[in-house]
Amino acid sequence: MAPLKSLLALVAVSASLLAQTASAAASAGCGKEPTLTGTSPYSLTVNNKQRQYYIKLPPAYNNTRPYKLIFTFHALGGQASQVVAGTGGYLPWYGLPALDADNTAVYVAPNGLNQGWGNAGGEDLAFTDAMIGAVEADLCIDTAHRYSTGFSYGASMSYAIACARARAFRAVAVLSGGPMSGCTGGTDPIAWYNQHGVSDQVLPFALGRQMRDQFVANNGCTQKTAPEPAKGSGTHIKTVYDGCKYPTTFVAFDGPHTPQPMDKGSSTTFSADESWAFFQQFKQE
Ligand SMILES: *[C@@H]1O[C@H](CO)[C@@H](O)[C@H](O)[C@H]1NC(C)=O
Repeated sequence: MAPLKSLLALVAVSASLLAQTASAAASAGCGKEPTLTGTSPYSLTVNNKQRQYYIKLPPAYNNTRPYKLIFTFHALGGQASQVVAGTGGYLPWYGLPALDADNTAVYVAPNGLNQGWGNAGGEDLAFTDAMIGAVEADLCIDTAHRYSTGFSYGASMSYAIACARARAFRAVAVLSGGPMSGCTGGTDPIAWYNQHGVSDQVLPFALGRQMRDQFVANNGCTQKTAPEPAKGSGTHIKTVYDGCKYPTTFVAFDGPHTPQPMDKGSSTTFSADESWAFFQQFKQE
């Protein structure tokens, strides 16, 4: 038995060394047979409340390849199942997997309490932390590449993550958000993208400017005036800030409160393209 035991120990050590050399940021789930393999909802109990989330694995999931981890939060009155299915005004997982040609990411769609992200007492941040823990223990994730996006209340939750979890996340894409999920901390730099409609009647455009200015300052960017499209112009204007510690981008669009703004004459939204372009600029080592 002794030789077999030491052989097994040797195999275990080599496996963990392999997992480490694959990438310094590889999660504990690397090398494991995964159990979070479907899109059926998974449950976690956080602060005595049962919480649910869906997972989308890339095709041909490879448990030794560290994947990006991308959170996609629904809006007020929405549900994760709509984000998964691409119904209720959402593109599937905010349209990102369709652009992820190299299958680089694992996607997570969580369900809010009361269909929102009030984050009372930080409970939705605690839920986010718990999902990171559960997913990364089971799947092979590059822990230097966690991202978050969402529209409206889902954008507010992504903003709350930028405020409170800037060191744990690589970047956020905040689509027509506001401060409804709070902003604990709120001074750390993090790669920041937000877009907002100049005719937003639900969360005024001024909120988009305000959140942008906060992260322009946090990221130490050179101040500059971000042009805004005229109402009726049917365009969007992207401003990329210079001199920032991390990339910082703002898109002002001629449009209302919508997850899928479109330029005049276009039948597809620029939201997914811009969010994906923003996220994929960060290369894995
Ligand atoms: C799985 O991922 C590892 C690490 O990226 C890579 O070396 C290997 O070729 C991949 N295996 C397959 C079957 O693609």
